[in-house]
This record gives sequence, structure tokens and C-alpha cells, in this order.
Amino acid sequence: MLYIGIDLGTSAVKLLLMGGNGKIHNIVTKEYPLSFPHPGWSEQHPEDWYEQTLAGIEELLSAVDRSQVAGISFGGQMHGLVILDEQDQVIRPAILWNDGRSQEECDYLNQVIGKESLSEYTANIAFAGFTAPKLLWVKNKEPEHFARIKKIMLPKDYLAYRLTGIHCSDVSDASGMLLMDVKNRRWSKEMCDICGITEAMLPRLYESDETVGTVIPALAAKLDIPASVRVAAGAGDNAAAAVGTGTVGEGRCNISLGTSGTVFISSRQFGVDENNALHAFAHADGNYHLMGCMLSAASCNKWWMEDILGTKEYEREEKAITGLGENHVYFLPYLMGERSPHNNPDARGVFIGMSLDTKRPEMHLAVLEGVAFALRDSLEVARSLGIVIESTRICGGGAKSALWKKIIANILNLKVEVIANEEGPALGGAMLAAVACGEYDDVSEAAEKIVKVVDTIEPESELTAKYEERYRKFKEIYPLCRLLFDKLKEK
Ligand code: XUL
Repeated sequence: MLYIGIDLGTSAVKLLLMGGNGKIHNIVTKEYPLSFPHPGWSEQHPEDWYEQTLAGIEELLSAVDRSQVAGISFGGQMHGLVILDEQDQVIRPAILWNDGRSQEECDYLNQVIGKESLSEYTANIAFAGFTAPKLLWVKNKEPEHFARIKKIMLPKDYLAYRLTGIHCSDVSDASGMLLMDVKNRRWSKEMCDICGITEAMLPRLYESDETVGTVIPALAAKLDIPASVRVAAGAGDNAAAAVGTGTVGEGRCNISLGTSGTVFISSRQFGVDENNALHAFAHADGNYHLMGCMLSAASCNKWWMEDILGTKEYEREEKAITGLGENHVYFLPYLMGERSPHNNPDARGVFIGMSLDTKRPEMHLAVLEGVAFALRDSLEVARSLGIVIESTRICGGGAKSALWKKIIANILNLKVEVIANEEGPALGGAMLAAVACGEYDDVSEAAEKIVKVVDTIEPESELTAKYEERYRKFKEIYPLCRLLFDKLKEK
């Protein structure tokens, strides 16, 4: 049988077709626009997601026997606010995970409701990208839209709705709404009251590998797939990526180097970082995870290469880079503000340390290193909780760079396990569909049978020592810039 994994990303939707044995038959990517209506805002049109997903499915299945398609599931960009009216029409463009407009609402939640109460209700505190603060922003700033809300959902849940007609979400993605009681895997009544909504406005919650329904018959006929194709709830993109890299069960780590950068640690037990610097979310394997999220990771490299240097020759530019561990330039990668661990939507990118002999490769290296240092910030929080991590898997667009993987292995002092397939969320989505259709007993079995490690990048002691020194200096830069970020803030 065949399974479709849909990774609803920020710049594009990636669709992956997997056989029951884990073999990948095809991958298709379809882009859509991202708009920044004001500095720090970030929006997309749900209709674009749907249209490009349908076009992607057509292309994905162009050379296969469509009667073999058995299941569809998702990994989706997390936290995005999609609101529907009484007729299930989208009320306004979706407000995305990297949107920083809701700082006032976050301050209200964290300071008036209080971090302790939020953490008790949801296991997390408010960050500007999370869904509940954005919902409060709509309530405060667009009351005419708020009054029309009948359903609130996440980006991939909108796709599931359009495919099945069912309002659903899954526990991993819903964890990032700040509306869910993560420990007990159900909606939080307290948070609904705080946000002025009813539970009926939220979709029904499923585990990630649970079947939600089948494809709407007319749509199945249009796509020429069986009407029996099951749609499983799927997961937030990070939990789906963790499934796709075999990061399930106890104490495993995955780094995702996509538009955002995340350090994801799976756990069998529910646990909360007492400072809430790491998110405590439900995992797609039925357990839990801790996660640090930086808002701009591979997007920093893309910005440097394509917007600043004006080139797409990634390999050629990287070849000019030498002198790992000896760079005198530092880069703070906070181009869209930062979530973990600083929780500051007003932070911005900074280069520091240039001299007249600085050339473009050192600036480029500083960008790659700056992202790795910021990932280490999250790893250090996990280490401070006594979590011992010696190796990590890696996925996302940035993971295609051998140089970046080496820098990460040495800055984080972790073995980086390279897996045969770094498709992450799209593969994880297809695996969740396969589990929902009974191809595997559970997510762990699917991960064990499908995910293969093909190489390990070991940290080198001389280089890790140099990077240790440089990380100490990197950590001193943000606190000194923080006041300036406040002053530079665009009103
Ligand atoms: C995670 C997060 C990002 C998005 C990217 O908390 O905000 O990783 O999920 O799609």
C-alpha cells in the first residue's frame, strides 16, 4: 500500500509518497507566498496551502497506481492561528508561528494571569508565536473578526478539515496552542475561559496516529484515489520530524534545521522545565517531549546567501569557508526575534567582531556558527535539567550541508547521526498514516523498521575546545544588546 505524508511548511508544502516498507517513491514540493504586513508580522492564506497541496498530490501520484493509496497524514507548521466562521470560511489570513505581534497579550498572560498558573494549566508559558496570545490579539485588535469565530484550528488541521470535512487536531500540535492541558492530553477549561472561547470552538483532539476519517468522496473521485483512504490526525512538524528521524521513546534528540531550528528531546514521562524555557509538549508516539525553538535557523543562511549575497550557489560559497573554531566574527541569528531561550520578539540579527581583513567566508561562517550557538542555548537548558544527551539526529533543509553538520557536532559537542532519509516531517507524516492503517503496530515499531542511520559525525576534541571558548563569548553578546533591541523597536 502507499502512504502520503504532507509537510505543511512555512515556505512550501512538501509531499512524500511512501510504500508500506518505508521505501520513498516520490517527493514533490509546492511553494506559496509568505507575507510580512508589518515588521515582525507573518501571515499566509490557508487557501494557498489547500490549492498547493491538491496540486502536489496530483503530481506526487502521477506515475503510480492510485488505487494503492491507503492513508494520508501530516506534519504541520505549529502554532498558526486559523479561524473559521459559521460557514467554515476562513475569517482572516493565518497568523503564523514566527509572528511577533502579540507581545502585549503575552505580557498579560505571563504577568496578569501569571506564569505559574499558565504552567499549571498547560505546562507552558506564553510566547508571542503561540496560538492563544494571537487569539487574544484578534480579540483586542480585531473584535469584529473575533465575534465571528466558530472554529479555531492549526494550519495542518485546516488541510485535514478540507480533506475530510472533520474539525480535528492532534495532541502534539495542539500542545503549542497554550490552550491544552498537555499532561492530560485534553483541552484546558481554564485557558478557554481566559481567552473568552468555548471548548466547542476547538477541534476534537486525537493522538497523532489515530484515523480521523476518510477523504470526502467527491475529492477522492477528483484525485482518483479510493474513497476508503484514511486521514490520520498527524503531528506538529517537529513531532512529525522526530517520528521521521526515529526520535521516539526515552531520551532521544533530534535537531531540525528548517526555517526554524529546534532541539527536540523525546521522553516517556511528562516533565516541565521549571523556568519554562523549553516547551513541554505531547509527542506523536503517545509520550511527551521537551523542545527549544529558535525562530530563524536555515532561514538565516538563506537570507545571507540569497538576499545579501544574491546567490543560490550554496556549495560553492561553503567551499570557501576555512578556519573552523577561529572565526573572530559573531552573528546573533535573531532575524525574526527569538523564542528559546530569550523569549524576545524584539531581538534582531547582529554581526559583531569584523575588522578590515574580514572577508565574506568569515561572515558566512559566523551565520552558520551563530545558528549552532543558539541551538546550543536550548541544549544547555536541557543539560541543566540533568538530561544527558550524547547524540542527535538531524533533519531539515540545512542538514543537507556537511559543513553545517560538522559545525553543529562540534559546537554542541554531540555525535550527529546522519540518517538515510532526512525528509523529517513529510516522512513522519507518511509513517503516521501507515500506523493508522495498521501497517505497523505503533509509531515505535514504524521508526525502528524504517529509519536507518548511515553515518555518524563525531565531535573532534581540539575543535570542541575552541568552540567552547567561543560559545562563552557568544553568550555574552545578547545580554549587552538587549536594551538596544528595545530602543530600536519599530513602533
Ligand atoms: C515550533 C515552531 C516551529 C514551527 C515551524 O515551536 O514554532 O518549529 O513549527 O514550522
